[in-house]
Amino acid sequence: MLELDQVTVPNDLEAHWIPFTPNRHFKKHPRLVARAEGMWYTATDGRPILDATAGMWCCNVGHRHPRVVAAIQRQAAELDYAPPFQFGHPKSFELASRLADLFPGDLDYAFFTNSGSESVDTALKIALAYQRAIGQGTRTRLIGRERGYHGVGFGGISVGGMVNNRKWFGTLLTGVDHLPHTLDLERNAFSRGQPKHGAELADELERLIQLHDASTIAAVIVEPVAGSIGVYPPPVGYLERLREITAKHGILLIFDEVITGFGRLGKANACEYFGIVPDLVTLAKGLTAATVPMGAVMVRKPIYEAIVERSPAPEKTIELFHGYTYSAHPIACAAALAVLETYKEERLFERAAALAPIFEERLHALAGKRHVIDIRNIGLMGAVELAPRPGRPTERAYDAMCDAFEHGLMIRVTGDTIALSPPLIATEADIARITDILGAVLDRLH
Ligand SMILES: Cc1ncc(COP(=O)(O)O)c(C=O)c1O
Repeated sequence: MLELDQVTVPNDLEAHWIPFTPNRHFKKHPRLVARAEGMWYTATDGRPILDATAGMWCCNVGHRHPRVVAAIQRQAAELDYAPPFQFGHPKSFELASRLADLFPGDLDYAFFTNSGSESVDTALKIALAYQRAIGQGTRTRLIGRERGYHGVGFGGISVGGMVNNRKWFGTLLTGVDHLPHTLDLERNAFSRGQPKHGAELADELERLIQLHDASTIAAVIVEPVAGSIGVYPPPVGYLERLREITAKHGILLIFDEVITGFGRLGKANACEYFGIVPDLVTLAKGLTAATVPMGAVMVRKPIYEAIVERSPAPEKTIELFHGYTYSAHPIACAAALAVLETYKEERLFERAAALAPIFEERLHALAGKRHVIDIRNIGLMGAVELAPRPGRPTERAYDAMCDAFEHGLMIRVTGDTIALSPPLIATEADIARITDILGAVLDRLH
């Protein structure tokens, strides 16, 4: 147990409006952590809590990694900030080159943001700018997928497919359509890795093209593995088919790799894992292992060239009207460089790949537990889907999360699905402990 003498928990939790959280219940039953190290959080009451979710799919190198902490401290003492418009600092260029090396094909350019949501909005804008730059300005339509999650910007919720995000705010962006989601419990329940059935769902894109005409469609955006909805690995052949159809019709393909980037599947990214080169890739989370907020968009060379190199405007003119005050923040860049070094030195992607079959085995051993209607996994992403309580959807999984925290385990829930994504530093013993505690939680759950 870590020393907690300096932690003060405020008596009044009222003023903080907590995101994506039932505030009324949380403020009566708060789950607060005060310290973290490696695989563990420490709750404010001193209890160790095993992190089965890498925070929120992001603390891939584990918590408080000494190399990353030192890099952040050094950078804060050296250069706290540099304006990213019209000026710069060396580390952002070094980071962009390192990222280009990590991505296949000619995904050679990095545009920096501060979050996954900003990466998504940035990628959508670059897609529109590209189509305009090559004389295809009628291509303004964006295609997402049902149940997709692309953050909370207006672009992201519009192409996203989560009903609660969309029904309040998701109708303002017009010219958006959606592919069907790929979950098929009838044919694919309890699949291990990629499900066998469902590649044909990608052909729905052909139907949308017939409906709208390719000349109106700028881009398709999908998560290669749908994460936030509760881990839907793509059916075998599905992503390949999407790549084929988009390429045939001059439509850009955007992979939202905010979760799958940086080792979650046991490879540097999903592009490498599935052997597909999309046109744009959105990143965040594992880029800095969440130590400092940062996102990025990887862009293929022809897109950069069309918008920047071949810009018809004079050389002293800005080519893309987009960017953020904190784009390529020096402290975020220093953190990202240290995190990339850690992935390499500790061979964390390989480690995740080696652990994935053990994770799969332990997770699927929960199949006989009460209320469990599906288990899904790929790499170090896993989900246990529960039957909802009649008339009270989401409550069963929420109760499981609260009970797990009481018993020393942090899990994530979405709808009635429990999602697991342990840090890539996890050991076999950690995985066993995670699934043991979760098994006991499921045994207690009504
Ligand atoms: C695939 C995907 N895209 C975008 C986002 C949004 O990222 P952020 O919360 O950093 O804005 C998330 C967050 O979980 C995500 O999973």
